[in-house]
Amino acid sequence: MKRIAAEKALEYVEDGMIVGLGTGSTVEYFLPKLGEKVKEGLNIVGIPTSHRTKTIATRCGIPLSTLTEHPEIDVTIDGADEVDPDLNLIKGAGGALTREKIVAFSSKREIIIVDETKLVQKLGSFSPLPVEVIPFGWYPTKLCIEREFGCRAELRREEENPYTSDNMNYILDCEFNGIEDAEKLEKELKSIPGVVETGLFIDMVDTVIVGTREGIKLLEK
Ligand code: A5P
Repeated sequence: MKRIAAEKALEYVEDGMIVGLGTGSTVEYFLPKLGEKVKEGLNIVGIPTSHRTKTIATRCGIPLSTLTEHPEIDVTIDGADEVDPDLNLIKGAGGALTREKIVAFSSKREIIIVDETKLVQKLGSFSPLPVEVIPFGWYPTKLCIEREFGCRAELRREEENPYTSDNMNYILDCEFNGIEDAEKLEKELKSIPGVVETGLFIDMVDTVIVGTREGIKLLEK
């Protein structure tokens, strides 16, 4: 299901475009296909959202650049952890939420590729909300989030150590059991000192390509 969604996304990439390259296992079906098109002569430049995507895209022969060279992106193809009926998202299970959000914000068109298991009625129903925080004072930041929002905020770990993002920050995975007002939560979380970014993507998405058992389903804003 991830693979067919990724293949469909190729149709949105045109010659001459600057293309934002998301992060995650669904995008990793997309990158080799895009690489094949490049080898056949498609002229695009990719802007990766993580070190991992940069490495894979390079291996696939996709020419890459930066937001400094290309501050405006034509189309971004990225994955998501949850998609609600208004096409708002939770992202960041792969830890790339901050770069993904900057790239999405710089894109004329944000296209999300998911399998049907990612569709939810309410964000935060199944996935925790990743919140990227500065390592300094991460513990009082965690306590503040738990106190203010009544959630559990778990420091993401990699074996014994705290997981660090590409920006050298920590991630708190916040369990909400369903988020009532995602827009309000986003604003309130961002007002806490130490919070860098949240995995809530509100009103940023144009199209969601859903791979289902029956084939492709398109959700448009
Ligand atoms: C990366 O940080 C995430 O935002 C991913 O885009 C998201 O977790 C989807 O990943 P999968 O495609 O692996 O499900």
